[in-house]
Amino acid sequence: MSAAEWEQLETACKGCTACGLSATRHNVVFGVGNPEAEVLFIGEGPGENEDLQGQPFVGRGGQLLDKMLASVGLSRKKNIYIANIVKCRPPQNRDPLPDEQEACIGWLRQQVSLIRPRIIVCLGRVAACRIISPDFKVTRQHGEFFEKNGVLMMGTLHPAALLRNPSQKPDGFADFLKLRDKIGEVCTHTELIYPE
Ligand code: URA
Ligand code: SF4
Repeated sequence: MSAAEWEQLETACKGCTACGLSATRHNVVFGVGNPEAEVLFIGEGPGENEDLQGQPFVGRGGQLLDKMLASVGLSRKKNIYIANIVKCRPPQNRDPLPDEQEACIGWLRQQVSLIRPRIIVCLGRVAACRIISPDFKVTRQHGEFFEKNGVLMMGTLHPAALLRNPSQKPDGFADFLKLRDKIGEVCTHTELIYPE
């Protein structure tokens, strides 16, 4: 992929008015990270802070996500990319509606075809149901890897769910350890970085 292709996609996405969420958004949240990464994280959609700042996962959930990433040598700036199923905030943080997901998924598909990740991690039910399988059960299947179209995919607990339910945090961290092992198996240029 050339940097120009990526920029072109980002610019086009930021002007999108294909669904009703465009009416209430402050910013389109295209994504953050390294588009050359081998690992792609997919969330559900922007919340209030994300909508105001134009960046995914910048609230309390984002801080927890960054901590979990750092615990296995990953960093949103360097060796992963983070995007969402819908790029504009659903009002009151409701789940994105099926027709909003349908309208938006093409942007994510284009991101995936430019990034060509080896591993996709779905953060929470909405992303896992959309990307892995419509009947995905996060409580039962989190941390399991599935292969689809030559890409390994895993669903894990959403950081916001871990904040609501701290007793599940060890399960969430355990999924990230499985991810680290899988990166070691299948990735060729993902350098894990541990803060000193
Ligand atoms: N939750 C998500 O699923 N995505 C974000 O970007 C922020 C919160
Ligand atoms: Fe376009 Fe997606 Fe935003 Fe809807 S949510 S306006 S499809 S970018």
